[in-house]
Amino acid sequence: MNDAPIGIFDSGVGGLTVARAVSQLLPRESIVYIGDTARSPYGPKPIADVRRYSLEVLDDLVEQGVKMLVIACNTASAAMLRDARERYDVPVVEVIGPAVRTAMSTTRNGRIGVIGTSGTIGSRAYQDMLEVNENLTVFAEACPRFVEFVEAGITDSPEVLAVAEEYLAPLRHAGVDTLVLGCTHYPFLEGAISYVMGPDVSLVSSDSETAKDVYRQLVGRDLLAGLDAQSHHTYEATGSSADDFVQLAHRLMGREVRDVRLVQTGAIDLPR
Ligand code: DGL
Repeated sequence: MNDAPIGIFDSGVGGLTVARAVSQLLPRESIVYIGDTARSPYGPKPIADVRRYSLEVLDDLVEQGVKMLVIACNTASAAMLRDARERYDVPVVEVIGPAVRTAMSTTRNGRIGVIGTSGTIGSRAYQDMLEVNENLTVFAEACPRFVEFVEAGITDSPEVLAVAEEYLAPLRHAGVDTLVLGCTHYPFLEGAISYVMGPDVSLVSSDSETAKDVYRQLVGRDLLAGLDAQSHHTYEATGSSADDFVQLAHRLMGREVRDVRLVQTGAIDLPR
């Protein structure tokens, strides 16, 4: 048993989808969530910069005494897949492995689509992990405007559907039967994505798959919070205004996020 909090990190607000999924499965666990809003979005940035930013934030969470690190951001997971586990003593859960495993067991025709930010798709992290299985064919598309829509609170407009039709057309034509939503923000667009892809395509969302991995690892390592544990959720952002974070969090997630503490993480660069 271990009552220390789980540290969850994202480039911004989108990783709250993972925090929500974790707290649904593990309501007694405490969570410290950091959104690196000062330097978000990560998606269009060079992968080396994303890696450096991510390590700074994760170092901070470890200093706060978390018992597990969860990299909720797909772009950050893609940037540091290989080294985060070597750097920290606490277990590290990221979002790509769990989604890949579920996609592999879901597909019937061996044709899997992956969508994500330009950074995630350009890194080939999903493609490389899936293509370990020679029977699979992977089709990947960057969908950069999806994050912009979600952050503007637009998830059901005709424009979203038109952009979704455009981004997803190659995947439909490729005949994928399984589509990985490889970005924190895409669960908010599941309606539009599922409408465009059709009812026969299974959507795999990294937030719920990651929460199951967190559950599995806490149980497997005897790290669950005690039966009397009081759950505390703490939200931190690196940006200059907590209001922006709270407003967007309310729009996306409802009222759970109230107080957001502003923190300075590492050597903050101004967003490009
Ligand atoms: N959190 C990012 C991801 O999952 C999306 C937002 C961003 O570009 O920072 O890839």
